[in-house]
Amino acid sequence: MNQKDVFVSAEALARQEEYMARVEVINERYRAETGRQRTAFVDCYGCQQNEADAENMRGMLVRMGYAMIADEKDADAVVINTCAVREHAEMRVLGNVGALSHYKKDRPDMIIAVGGCMPQQERMSQKLKRSFPYVDLVFGTHALWRLPEMFYKKLSGQRRVFDVENEDGHIAEGLPVLRKDNIRGWVSIMYGCNNFCSYCIVPYVRGRERSRRPEDVIKDVKELLARGCKEINLLGQNVNSYGRDSGYDCDFSDLLRQVCELPGDFIVRFMTSHPKDATHKLIDTIAACEKAAPQLHLPVQSGSDRILKEMNRRYTAESYLDLIRYAREKVPGIAFTSDIIVGFPGETEEDFEKTVELVKAVGYHSLFTFQFSPREGTPAAKMHDDTPHEVVQARFERLLDVQNSISQTLHEGYIGKEIRVLAETESRVADYPVSARSDGGRPVYLRSSRPVIGEFVRARVDRCSPWALYATDIRDVTDESK
Ligand code: SAH
Ligand code: SF4
Ligand code: F3S
Repeated sequence: MNQKDVFVSAEALARQEEYMARVEVINERYRAETGRQRTAFVDCYGCQQNEADAENMRGMLVRMGYAMIADEKDADAVVINTCAVREHAEMRVLGNVGALSHYKKDRPDMIIAVGGCMPQQERMSQKLKRSFPYVDLVFGTHALWRLPEMFYKKLSGQRRVFDVENEDGHIAEGLPVLRKDNIRGWVSIMYGCNNFCSYCIVPYVRGRERSRRPEDVIKDVKELLARGCKEINLLGQNVNSYGRDSGYDCDFSDLLRQVCELPGDFIVRFMTSHPKDATHKLIDTIAACEKAAPQLHLPVQSGSDRILKEMNRRYTAESYLDLIRYAREKVPGIAFTSDIIVGFPGETEEDFEKTVELVKAVGYHSLFTFQFSPREGTPAAKMHDDTPHEVVQARFERLLDVQNSISQTLHEGYIGKEIRVLAETESRVADYPVSARSDGGRPVYLRSSRPVIGEFVRARVDRCSPWALYATDIRDVTDESK
């Protein structure tokens, strides 16, 4: 596809604007007749990119005259933005869709929409069609920007609307957006994935890689900063291939630098980086840009070269470790995190030992660990898999133990030290009422005698667990010592 064709045309976007206006008229009429504004709820599963899409869904719903509410119970429209990455995620969604049938019985006018990665699979859209007849709208990731048209069709009498065509994918710029968080902002810089790791469904449900124009990304970031956001998260399935599809003279490191050079007091994080494409230039950029967080989420998946090859990851444990060494040298104190799949088909005890060794060699601050889940249509789902579940479970638990002890040791190293954190929300932890995050991405519970939410705070670390640091606002520490 040529880069020009990737963008949804201005005419097509204008048509959706028109549909939004028409739905708004319908909802306005309802309000005039009943004295009540229609309400909507968007439930979201999966990765941060899905969260970013959900912000667009909410933006469109508000433009269509819905008032957003915080749960499904009283909503006139419920939109579920789904994830297909593991079976567990799909089961949770189906369970929740099932539960909605009760509400629909009481209120047949309720609109139930299921969108995102799950229905983008033929098998799932069929299942939703046949087994969940009360679901009104079913749409895949590529149809997100056509949500207004689907709502209009439904509200003007069509019984069910399906929009689940398989396509390489487009970029729809300028969609309405409703942000939930005023402190942290999510910006998709690219969509899709070309990597086809053998276990992964994402390339099938998200289409080919397509990068937004650097100026569009910068515009979004500026808008977030103007709203007072203090943390910018640049999102893509593999941000390191940003720009490759497009011919922009701007790779991910260049984009990261441009974002970091914008004026203001903020921190920039990004995810995810595929190790095969993480360059020295990227690490040099993190080192050079003060606003780039000193952290790197670099999913390794396995420590065994044989398994990495079967996974189609295209790096080795050694080349991965080289990158880690380079990053440590250039960005002192950098915190690494990773994703690991346990029980990939054919994983032997020896392969698993190599993963444990690698985890120890890197010394991750934390890990996201998953048990392999076969995804229909991916090569790994057809691979011979004879490891009993109990063995996978035991490996999984062992890896968690190893990681917890590493996290505990690394976290203990912060005790007594001063760190900078961004105070995000209230917490439920006694004595440490604020949830915060350190520059290196550590979850921090913060104690402060002043209102700090939304601010960067210098804090002294008092204690820790394997999962978090507990710290006191340095101003209170100074007061205590007077
Ligand atoms: N694009 C990102 C991650 C996408 S999915 C990346 O490449 O890192 C997030 C994580 O889910 C993956 O890193 C992987 O560890 C896990 N995952 C993906 N497919 C899976 C499967 N079929 N079974 C178990 N875990 C899986
Ligand atoms: Fe999936 Fe691999 Fe793409 Fe990540 S890089 S989304 S794991 S195919
Ligand atoms: Fe899930 Fe889709 Fe993200 S499958 S992990 S929501 S890209």
